[in-house]
Amino acid sequence: MYYPEELVEEIRVKNDIVDVISGYLTLQKKGGNHWACCPFHNEKTPSFSVSGNKQMFHCFGCGVSGNVYTFIMKYENYSFQEAAKMLADRAGVQLPEMEYNEEMRRRENKRARLLEVSKEAAKFFYYQLRSPRGKIGYDYLNQRGLSDETKHKFGLGYAGKSGAELVQYLRSKGFEDEVIKEAGLANYSEKRGLLSQFWNRVMYPIQDINHRVIGFGGRVMGEGEPKYLNSPETPIFDKRRNLYGLNFARTARSGNIILCEGYMDVIAMQQAGFTQAAASLGTAFTQEQAVLLRRYTDSVLLAYDSDGAGVKATLRGIGILREAGLSAKVINMRPYKDPDEFMKALGKEAFEERIAQAENSFFFEIRILESRFDMNDPESKTKFHREIAKKLCEFTEDVERENYIQAVADKYFIGAENLRKLVTSYAAQTGLAKPVERPRTGVQQRNTPEEKARKSQRLLITWVTDEPSLYGKIKKYITAEDFTEEIYRKVAERLFQELEQGSYNPAGIISMFEDEEEQREAAALFHTNLPELHTSQEREKAFHDIVLTVKKNSYEYYTAKLGADVNALNQVIEGKKALEELARTHISLD
Ligand code: UTP
Ligand code: MN
Repeated sequence: MYYPEELVEEIRVKNDIVDVISGYLTLQKKGGNHWACCPFHNEKTPSFSVSGNKQMFHCFGCGVSGNVYTFIMKYENYSFQEAAKMLADRAGVQLPEMEYNEEMRRRENKRARLLEVSKEAAKFFYYQLRSPRGKIGYDYLNQRGLSDETKHKFGLGYAGKSGAELVQYLRSKGFEDEVIKEAGLANYSEKRGLLSQFWNRVMYPIQDINHRVIGFGGRVMGEGEPKYLNSPETPIFDKRRNLYGLNFARTARSGNIILCEGYMDVIAMQQAGFTQAAASLGTAFTQEQAVLLRRYTDSVLLAYDSDGAGVKATLRGIGILREAGLSAKVINMRPYKDPDEFMKALGKEAFEERIAQAENSFFFEIRILESRFDMNDPESKTKFHREIAKKLCEFTEDVERENYIQAVADKYFIGAENLRKLVTSYAAQTGLAKPVERPRTGVQQRNTPEEKARKSQRLLITWVTDEPSLYGKIKKYITAEDFTEEIYRKVAERLFQELEQGSYNPAGIISMFEDEEEQREAAALFHTNLPELHTSQEREKAFHDIVLTVKKNSYEYYTAKLGADVNALNQVIEGKKALEELARTHISLD
C-alpha cells in the first residue's frame, strides 16, 4: 500500500461519511440512516443509504456500497491515492512525502520536467493564438464555430510561422534542449539546429485524465501535409493509453461515453453539451483505451465518420469493446460525415435523438455484412445466412444467443428454427467461441455453482457482522481459509481477527483495498440481503445451512487442489471433520 495503514485509517475516521456525502447529495434522515437518490444510477425514489454508525453507504437499487474512500473514488473518478489526498486535505491530515529510491526519483524528475515543458509550450501556443499573429488560427477556429469559452476550455493555441520561436521561448524559460527534444516539441538538425516541427498550425493540447498536457495535435492552416501533426510518443505521452477529451468525459455522468474520430468532433460535441465525448489520438482505438474507458462506463457509443474508413474503424472498435466486456452501440450520423458536421447542421436535439436510436453493435455488424451479399441471388443469400449463423456462435451464453437468433430471424425474415439449426451445426463444427472475460463490474453470472458458493460466503459475513456474538459459535468450524474468493478471504481474515479482539470495523476493512472494484466487492460482503425469516427455528436452519454450504464448498475446493497445494491436505482433513461435526450439531442463535 502506498500510505501506511494507520494513516489511511486516520484519514477515514476523520472524514465522517455522512458529512462528506452531504457535500454532494441532499441527505434525508430516516430511522438510523440517511437517504438520497443514488448518484450512481438513475432513480426517482431514494434507495441510497448512508449509515453513520457503520460509516458506509449502500444503494438498495443498484447494489453499490463502500466506505468514504469508495464514495469519493466513484463520485470523483479518483484513484485511491487521489481520494486519500483529497480526504486528508479536507480533514487537515498531513500526508508524508513519499520516499523514492534514486532511480525512481530520477524517473519522476524527468517526467515532471517533461510535463512542465509541455505545459509551458501549451501556454506559448495559447498566447500566440490570442495575439495579432495568431489571427489566422483564431479566425479558423471561429469559422469552425468554436466559442471563446470552448477555445479556452480546451486550451487551444497556435504555432506561428517559424519553428524557432517556440524553442527560443522554452530556452528562455530555462528548459534544456534535451528536455525540449524529449518532450517531442522540437527536432535537431545539423544545418538548422533545434527547431519545432509545429508551425503554421492550430494546436490542440492533449491532456491526460488529470488535465495535464502530455502532447499536442496540430492542424495545418490551409492545405498542407499532413493535415494533423501529432507529438511523437514520449515518456509522458502514451497514445495507446490516453484519449482526447477523457479528462472531461470521465466526469460527465451521462451513463455512456461517445467515441469519435477527431479532435474537432470531441470539441464540437462537448461544446454542444455532450461532455461525454472522447477520441483516440490520431491512431486506431486500442485495447488499452477500452480498458481505460471501462473505469468510467460500461456503455460506449461509437460516432466515427460515416465513410468507408469510418465503418471499418467502427467494426474494429466493436470487436475491441466487446472483448473488454463493454456494450457498444453505433450512432448513425448520416447524411453527415462526422459529429462536428452533424452538430452544425442539425444541432443538439437531433443528435440526442440519434443517441437514443443508436444501433446495437451486433445488428450493425450484420447490416454491414448484408451489404456484401446480393439478396436477390439465392446462393448469395444463403451464404449471408451462414455468415450470420457463424457470427451468432460468438455468443457463448445460451440465453443471449437465443435472444439474438430470434431477433435476427425476425429482422431478416429467416425461419428461427432454420437459423437455430444452422447455428447448431456451426457450433458443432467449430465450437462456440471462448467466453470473453467479463470485467468485474459486468453482470455476474448467476446461479453457477461458483456464484452460489460466493453467495453463501457473503451471507455468512453479513450475518456475523450483524450479530457478532455468532462468531464465537462458528469459529470452531469456519476460518478465513474457508473463503475461497481472495477478496472474501482477506476480509474474513481481518474481520475474524478483529472479532477475536472484541471490536470490529467493517468500514476500515474496506480500505485495505485500493482498487475501487475490490472495495465494492468487499463492501458487498457486509450488505447481502439476509433471508427474511420469522421463527427462530427457520433462522437457525438457514444459518446452519449457510455455514454448512461454506464449509462444503471449501472442502471441495481444497480437495480439488490436493497435490498442488501444500495447505490443501490440512484443509481437507480438517474440513471433513468439521462437516461431520456440523451435521450433528445444532447452532443456537440465541
Ligand atoms: P479527419 O481527417 O476526419 O479529421 O481525421 P477532422 O477532425 O474531420 O479534420 P478537419 O475537420 O478537417 O479538421 C480524424 C482524426 O484523425 C487524425 C486526427 O486525430 C484527426 O482529428 N489525423 C487525421 C491525423 O492524426 N493525421 C492526419 O493527417 C489526419
Ligand atoms: Mn472527420
